[in-house]
Order: sequence, then C-alpha cells, then structure tokens
Amino acid sequence: MTARRVLLIIGGGIAAYKVLTLIRDLGRRGIAVTPVLTEAGAEFVTPLSVSALAGEVVHDALFDLTREAEMGHIQLSRSADLVVVAPATANLMAKMAAGLADDLASTLLLATDKKVLLAPAMNVRMWQHTATQRNIETLRADGAQMVGPDEGDMACGEYGPGRMAEPAEILTAIERMLDARTLPASPSRPAPLRLPPEAVIRRQPLAGRHVIVTSGPTQEPIDPVRYISNRSSGAQGSAIAAALRDLGARVSFVTGPAETPPPAGVDVIRVSTADQMREAVEAALPADAAVMAAAVADWKVANAAGSKMKKDASGAAPALEFTENPDILAWVSQLTDGRPQLVVGFAAETDQLIDNASAKRRRKGCDWIVANDVGEGTGTFGGAENTVTLITETGNESWPKMRKDQVAAKLAGRIAEALS
Ligand code: C5P
Repeated sequence: MTARRVLLIIGGGIAAYKVLTLIRDLGRRGIAVTPVLTEAGAEFVTPLSVSALAGEVVHDALFDLTREAEMGHIQLSRSADLVVVAPATANLMAKMAAGLADDLASTLLLATDKKVLLAPAMNVRMWQHTATQRNIETLRADGAQMVGPDEGDMACGEYGPGRMAEPAEILTAIERMLDARTLPASPSRPAPLRLPPEAVIRRQPLAGRHVIVTSGPTQEPIDPVRYISNRSSGAQGSAIAAALRDLGARVSFVTGPAETPPPAGVDVIRVSTADQMREAVEAALPADAAVMAAAVADWKVANAAGSKMKKDASGAAPALEFTENPDILAWVSQLTDGRPQLVVGFAAETDQLIDNASAKRRRKGCDWIVANDVGEGTGTFGGAENTVTLITETGNESWPKMRKDQVAAKLAGRIAEALS
C-alpha cells in the first residue's frame, strides 16, 4: 500500500495564503504534498513556509533549471495521485486550456496523466469574462474538476464570485477524488453505497493496528512532596499519538505528567515514575509498533523518604542516592517474545547529533531513532517546532524545520508505510 500524494501547484493570487492551511490539513490526513510554486505564487507565499509545512522540497523556476537532470517534468507530473492547482488563476487556466507549456507549472499540467482539480481564484470581472468562462468549459470538457470559486467580498474591494474555496472544501474535494480512484472504473455500474475495503484502508492505513506511544516527563519522588523531573512538555508525543489516531490506529498513550493535554480518541494511561511507565507499556503490549517519545528520567532516588524530609538545626543538606531507572526503549526493543514489529525511539542531542543518535539506535536495539537537535537557540523544548533526522538501518534522512504536528504526521505516514 502506498501513501497518497498530491502535486500541489500554487498560483499567484492573494488566496495563496490559504494554501498553507490546506497543506497542513492534508498532512494531518496523511496525504503527502509535492509543492510547486509558480513565480507569481512566490510573490504571495515564501518557498520556506511552503516547504516547512509540506516537509518537502519546493519545486520552482530554480528547480526547473538546476535539477531537471535529476527528475524530469514527466516523472514529477506523474509521481502524484492527483494534481491540484490552488489558487488557479485566470492566466494559469488560460494556459492550460490552450495547452501552453512555458514554465514548470504549465509544463507539468500538460505532461500529467493524473486527474486535475482546480480551485479558481480571481477578480469577479475576470471570472465573468467570456474568455475565462470559455476556458473553464474547455477545461471541464478535458476532464478537469473544479472546487469553487465562492461568492463574497474580494481582496480588490468588489463583491461576487471569484473567492477561492476554503481549505476545508478543497480538502473534501481532494479526498473525494483520491477515493474515487479506488472505485470500480465502469461508468455503467451504479456507485456502491459503501466504500470498498481498499478505499477505507487507503484513508486509514493503520486501521486495525495497535501502537503504544510514551510521552511527557517522568517524576521521580524524593519524598511524598518533592520530586525530580525535566522540562519535557509532551507536545511532540501528543502530536504523534494524534497523527497515528488520524491514520486509524488504536493508540495506547502512556504519559507522564505533561503540560500538553493528551489528544482525544486515544487510550490514555497516566503514570508518574519511570517504573510505572515501564509497567504500563508492558500491560499495553502486544502492539504493532511502539513510539517512545517520553523524556524518561535516567535515575530515580534510591533513598526516597517515606515522609516529608525536614530541615534540622544542624543545617546539613540531605544526601540523595541515585539508582538507574529501567530503559523502557531498550527493554521493548530487546524483547524476545512479543516485540513490536517497529520500535521507534527519540534522541535529543546537543552535539554530534547523527553520530550520537546512530550509536543510541544500535545500543538500544530499536529500528528507528528520531534525532532532534535541542542545542541552544533551536527552541525545541516547549516550542512548536522541531528539526529532526530520521535514522534507520539503511540511512539518515534530515527533515526541514517543521511544526511538531507536521513532524508527527510525517512520522505517522512512515510508520504506516513500514507496517503495510
Ligand atoms: O538514552 P536517552 O534518554 O537519550 O534515550 C532517549 C530515548 O530512550 C527516548 O526514546 C526515550 O523515550 C527512551 N528512554 C526510555 N527509558 C529510559 C530512558 C530513555 O524509554 N529510561
């Protein structure tokens, strides 16, 4: 089973900003995006924001010139399951209708063998112009599908049809077209009332799978009122659980006392200490995959007091003795009986990220390590973004800086592929 992929051509129009929301929502639905930014589109959104959200390289005029030898137009235009143009400007649609190919976007549109969805956006008069309406007729006759435009106030101050459809509406149209590819081709056969199993599986590639996710910090007691903990917010773990849930997995979410609330729709098991976390993971087994995103305390206090420690007149500070906590990731990875098919660990490193994380992957025995740079100035701890490298047995893959939910969606997509 392959992941769903959309080739998204971003035309030049004020509505291009809405496409950023669309890319994020596609990611949340497990739909990968190959972004293509036209020269005019780049006037409205930056290649950096598009690539950060999509987690992919943006293909633009520069790509056209420098990387053409690596990946031809034809391959790029056919590697996706669906081509989406948003905003589809009057100019882009006119070129398409005429079969012109004078830049990367129009060339891809002429070279593709996939269905095309257009989300037009333009000034009311331009939309109503006979030339545009004639082009729309031609494009429809050629098999292109349309979503919108909506009627409303325009950025130019006029009112009428021409506003690009909202991202949610475009997303629905995309999912409908992706699902339609899996329906029987014969037009004479009535459409089934229920989607065939392949369509359901495509939408929810992890349906029927069980994944354990650990998240958040642990708290190791010193006495009944004091503890040792760390700054983990649980944001990345929560996002991973949500992304796996969105792909249809049953998720056992074993969380320490985290700042970020657990997502809805997962089985939440709240723990406090590393020992409790290990026991909760054991109780949640068997699982198809385990993602260990928790920041487990390496040590616990060996001589924790049964009642509150008091200051005494001597002024002497109490001496704490430490003992090592169980390494949950290493334990799960090395299970001889009932080891999950895929075990994913995290490695937060401040230096020699790849070397240290690769060594950790081998030492602990997990399949993948998500290495994240938590060096000074990265803002990873408690922040909304993460810069990670996925380390597997076959190599390393550096992902661009992305929001944690984007990292989660991409990782969940990879897990779905690995389990398929
Ligand atoms: O050794 P280190 O703490 O850097 O390893 C990080 C990875 O190991 C994370 O995936 C974390 O969840 C996991 N871990 C664990 N149990 C521990 C320590 C770390 O599961 N006691």
